[in-house]
Amino acid sequence: MIIRELTPDDLEACLRLAADRQWSREERKWLFLLQGGEGYGMVDPGGELVATAILTRYGTRTAAISMVLVASRHGRQGLGGRLIGHVLDRARGATVFLNATATGRPLYERLGFRVTSPVAMHLGTFTGQASGASRPASPEDLKAIADLDAEVLGADRSALLTRLFDFAEQIRVIEDGGVVTGYAGMWRNVGNTVVGPVIAADPADARRLISDLASQVGGPARIEVEESRRELAEWLTGHGMAAGMRTSDMVAGAEPLPGDRTRFFAPVMSALG
Ligand SMILES: CC(C)(COP(=O)(O)OP(=O)(O)OC[C@H]1O[C@@H](n2cnc3c(N)ncnc32)[C@H](O)[C@@H]1OP(=O)(O)O)[C@@H](O)C(=O)NCCC(=O)NCCS
Repeated sequence: MIIRELTPDDLEACLRLAADRQWSREERKWLFLLQGGEGYGMVDPGGELVATAILTRYGTRTAAISMVLVASRHGRQGLGGRLIGHVLDRARGATVFLNATATGRPLYERLGFRVTSPVAMHLGTFTGQASGASRPASPEDLKAIADLDAEVLGADRSALLTRLFDFAEQIRVIEDGGVVTGYAGMWRNVGNTVVGPVIAADPADARRLISDLASQVGGPARIEVEESRRELAEWLTGHGMAAGMRTSDMVAGAEPLPGDRTRFFAPVMSALG
C-alpha cells in the first residue's frame, strides 16, 4: 500500500469508496474539499484507492481532517491509523481538529485526539418564519466576514470563505450600527440543504440568521450543533429540526482551539469546522 496525494481527478474513486461504507454520493462536497484542501489516499498494488483523508489548513494555525474512509474489505488492518499518522505529520505545527463518527472515535483517541464536544445533527423541514434581521451578503462584505471569522475561529479562513461565496446557495450578514457582527451560509448537499457556518454575537442573532436561511429551503435542512447549546437544540427541535446522528468534535493534543468559540454556533460542514 502506498500513500499519494489525491486530486479532483480521484473524485469517482472517492465516491466508490464512500458508497462501500454506505456514505451518500456527496459529489459537490468532495470536490469542494479536494479543491481547497490536501487529499491523501492509500492505493493498493493494483492501483485501487482503498483509503482517504483530506487535510484543510487555515493559515498555519489550525487544520481540519475529514473524509476518513477505509475500504470495508481492508478494515481493522491498521490502514486508517497509518493514513491519519501520515496526515498529522504533514500538518505539523497546526492544531488539528476533526468531527468523529462513533466508528472513527476509538482510532482517533489512540492517535492522541480528545473529545472537545459531543455534536448532534439536526435535520428536518424548518417550520419557523424569517426574522428579517439579516441581509444577503455581497462580495464587498467578504473582508468584514473574514475578519469576524478570524476573531471567532482564531485562524485565517479567508481562502475558504472566498470559495464559499461560489459554493453556498446564500450567505447572509447581520449588522449592529453598520458593523457586521454575525454571518451565516447554507449550501446544497445530497437530499438536504446544510445551514452553516453560523457565527453570531449571541444566541438570539444565531436564531435570526438560521431562520432567515432555513425558512427559504422548502425541504429538509440540516445543521450540526454542539450538545452544550441546549437552548438552540430545543429551539431547532421545536421548529421541525429534530436531533439525529451524534458525533464528537475532537482536537489533537492538549492545546485548545484558538479564538472566541462563544460566537461559534455551527460549522460550514462537519468536515471543515
Ligand atoms: C473508522 C475507519 C476509518 C477505521 O479504519 P481502519 O483502517 O479499520 O482503522 P485501523 O485498522 O487503523 O484501526 C481500527 C481498529 O483495528 C485495530 N487493528 C489495527 N490493525 C489490526 C490488526 N492487524 N489486527 C487486528 N486489529 C487491528 C486497531 O487497534 C483499531 O482498534 P480500535 O478501534 O479498537 O482502537 C473505518 O472503520 C471506516 O472507514 N469506517 C467507516 C467510515 C467512518 O466512520 N469514518 C470515520 C469518519 S470520522
